[in-house]
Amino acid sequence: MTDYLLAIDQGTTSSRAILFDRAGRNVAMSQREFTQHFPDDGWVEHDPEAIWETVLATCREVIEKVQVGIDQIIGVGITNQRETTLLWDRATGKPLYNAIVWQDRRTADSCQALREQGHSDLLQASTGLLIDPYFSATKLVWMLEHVEGARERAERGELAFGTVDSFLIWRLTGGKVHATDATNASRTALFNIHEQQWDPALLELFNIPASLLPEVKDSSDDFGRVEANWFGGELPIAGVAGDQQAALVGQACFAPGMGKSTYGTGCFMIVNTGDVAETSRNRLLTTVGYRLNGKPTYAMEGSIFVAGATVQWLRDGLQLFANASETESLASETRDGHSVYLVPAFTGLGAPHWDPKARGAILGLTRDTGIAEIVAAGLQAVCYQTRDLQTCMLDDMAASPGALRVDGGMVCNSWVMQFLADMLGVQVDRPTVLETTALGAAYLAGLRLGWYQDLDEIASLWQCERSFFPSMEEGERQRLYLGWLEAVERVKSDRL
Ligand code: G3P
Repeated sequence: MTDYLLAIDQGTTSSRAILFDRAGRNVAMSQREFTQHFPDDGWVEHDPEAIWETVLATCREVIEKVQVGIDQIIGVGITNQRETTLLWDRATGKPLYNAIVWQDRRTADSCQALREQGHSDLLQASTGLLIDPYFSATKLVWMLEHVEGARERAERGELAFGTVDSFLIWRLTGGKVHATDATNASRTALFNIHEQQWDPALLELFNIPASLLPEVKDSSDDFGRVEANWFGGELPIAGVAGDQQAALVGQACFAPGMGKSTYGTGCFMIVNTGDVAETSRNRLLTTVGYRLNGKPTYAMEGSIFVAGATVQWLRDGLQLFANASETESLASETRDGHSVYLVPAFTGLGAPHWDPKARGAILGLTRDTGIAEIVAAGLQAVCYQTRDLQTCMLDDMAASPGALRVDGGMVCNSWVMQFLADMLGVQVDRPTVLETTALGAAYLAGLRLGWYQDLDEIASLWQCERSFFPSMEEGERQRLYLGWLEAVERVKSDRL
């Protein structure tokens, strides 16, 4: 009888459930999108019940699809959009407010104030992060200050805070477990990544009661059991990681210097730095890549807020095409070396600029610019931004990956992958399994549940579908990239 692992991938725009077999093959998948709420300029929220309902529905659908008995599923792995912040009532499990999403910029001014008060060094030394609205801490503070009664109830120990993983664990275990893993904790701006515990100095700085916080576990660990009423039988939750770190695991980047870039809503480039928590001089982030048997493996991360979201905007906002798959042929129609730049700073700029008030622009338009050039510029922006991150990593670590493993929705587009290889000047490897985020969660659960002996066994399962090699002439590569750098300078908030 075949065994399966159920991976839950709760992302920014949709929830997915995937059943994997032991060889890491995706046996069945179900996906449901949910509504994005934009209540104000720069605000982004999710209804926690929509998150929960889409997770439940997709899990049930996928189990039904392959008609497996619940006893054939050995356990559950969870991966999730990171930083997104929830606050709920411990007695009822009911959230007090919508989830404030990682993209939300409402706390830009309070972050600015914290920087001016000189707290940047403390925060970076402890958490590896920068002071930015991206991370959970200021979002939680906003809830405590703006939701009626929240502060008092938090002080009385009646409430629980968590990122999406914690919320799902809480709900799936019927409120028995309030936990997160070290990768998710490392994105809250409250967790000391060197000591691997919540940082009392930061809790004091943000005035956050410790009683709100989940227990921090390894990425492969015992996160309790899914209650039988949800899927018709109890299941152990054995693996948890933030989606970008899960992709690092799914891409088997286990040796220092190996890296991956995931092109989903945003783009996140992560390079494994082993036992060393390298500090960036270029405003990249130091983060926990995964934690196994109490031992953290660190990583350096460059976070770009908008990647696939540009394609979505070109499709739904500007209505330039009906289907994302058309972008490959549209971009191929453009003449090489056109000079249109699209800077997708819709929610400000992430690494390495960290300018929450920057806004997007299309530059370099000429009389012959058409839909194809604008689409190509949107796709190229993702590659230029990856080059920005690569430049920083090269400077920080005196090295960047010799080959980059890529995944996420956009990497199906071979035109983009070729331009990426050209812009980076390194080989770009596309794996056979593109659902690497969910696969990483399954691997983490599988490690705990005895499917895999160690990381070497997991690494042996990784397979490359196609490699892209740089072929652009060096002068052209530099000319195009310099044009990008100029375009970015023009959208920064001090120029608006
Ligand atoms: O840090 C945000 C990231 O975890 C979101 O990932 O795939 O939902 O865009 P994704």
